[in-house]
Amino acid sequence: MHRFRYQGEALFVEETDAAGLAERYGTPLYVYSAGTIVDHYERLLSSLRALNPLICYAVKANSNLALLRLLASRGSGFDLVSGGELYRILRAGGDPARSTFAGVGKTAQEIKEALEAGIYSFVVESREELEVIDRVAARLGKRAPVALRVNPDVGARTHAKVKTGVAESKFGISPEEIEGLYRQLPHFSHVSLRGIQFHIGSQIRDVEPFEEAVRRVIPLVEIARDRFGAEFFDIGGGLGIAYEEALQSGDPGWWESKAQWATPAHYAERLLPLLGPLKLRIIVEPGRLLVGNAGILLTRVLYRKNRPQKKFVIVDAGMNDLVRPALYGSFHQIVPVARRSGEWVEADVVGPVCESGDCFAASRRMAPVESGDLLAIFSTGAYGFSMASQYNSRPRPAEVLVDGANHRLIRLRESYEDLVRGEGIDEGEIAPGL
Ligand code: LLP
Repeated sequence: MHRFRYQGEALFVEETDAAGLAERYGTPLYVYSAGTIVDHYERLLSSLRALNPLICYAVKANSNLALLRLLASRGSGFDLVSGGELYRILRAGGDPARSTFAGVGKTAQEIKEALEAGIYSFVVESREELEVIDRVAARLGKRAPVALRVNPDVGARTHAKVKTGVAESKFGISPEEIEGLYRQLPHFSHVSLRGIQFHIGSQIRDVEPFEEAVRRVIPLVEIARDRFGAEFFDIGGGLGIAYEEALQSGDPGWWESKAQWATPAHYAERLLPLLGPLKLRIIVEPGRLLVGNAGILLTRVLYRKNRPQKKFVIVDAGMNDLVRPALYGSFHQIVPVARRSGEWVEADVVGPVCESGDCFAASRRMAPVESGDLLAIFSTGAYGFSMASQYNSRPRPAEVLVDGANHRLIRLRESYEDLVRGEGIDEGEIAPGL
């Protein structure tokens, strides 16, 4: 459930008028609802309360410092995947001792930084990585806490590019290989096995794949607990959100009509009986669930273009600002910020970037819209700004966080100067980095 609604014909973010934000800060503009983020966090926490869970928010979904601070202030830990994300956590006042570090390609330098920061656990994705962690820890005179990431070979119905739990994907270690690693673990004198993790993919709408993965991994978890004293079982992230009816999903009644979905309540109801008896700390790593429907991208219509074959609505946001539709063909609901009367049309909503793939919606039934109008692209809080680029030399958008009737700018719109930062033309103009 989220807090974006029409009051009369005007779209509001909590108690703040969306058009006013666009006037003040310009477009394209990412706008987030703090209340929605906190609500999603609290809902997940209370659904899993019986397990005394640790929620490690997946920073990659949206790594703005203000959002990280908001979640840290509620007690959230973090799931991070790079030295840069660790840096952000530390800058935002997040606690590394409540954070895990995953990813198939951690460098020795990143491992060192995380060990020095006091990371709760690495999530190890290969034997070779384990060797490097052991070596780095030995050099620092430390013992590195590690979890092994199991690839449970469970297919989830989601986009191929975000499916991670099948044997063909690069993620995790097969159950057979984990058993081999268990035998070798005593030789790694600078690591201690703290847990087992899996993550089967993203935007998963039904509970079955999670349940199946938990069942498959439990035998390995029990060995980790009984033989090595492991203390946690991390069941990853991946809970899906509403994209098709994003606006409607702000309404509690809408959720009741989707009882078969992997909502936090449904997810917990099915997993609790499996996880409770393990008597371990349970970690979840949601990204999209917490922030996806807590963000919209405001964009202004620049032009309309009507051809006999097709109508186009050309907006000032592009695929550099929001790449999901171009990259995954993903659907985002697009609604007017001020509803007007008139005829609905079928049109492509496209951006200014010089690629045909720069298209937010193809042949979409659109509410009446004119040049100069504002549109809101829904469900863009997750993997929106965090995947934005400067392609076509377009400065990245500003970000605003709304809390009730208050709001604040949490990222300045980039300038042309930002586009060329770090570049140099003449010899000696820039000092080489290390
Ligand atoms: N944990 C791990 C180890 C992950 O790799 C991910 C996401 C998550 C947690 C969080 O998953 P979530 O709860 O957000 O589904 N850019 C794509 C999504 C990529 C997800 C990558 N890993 C998109 O825009 O749909």
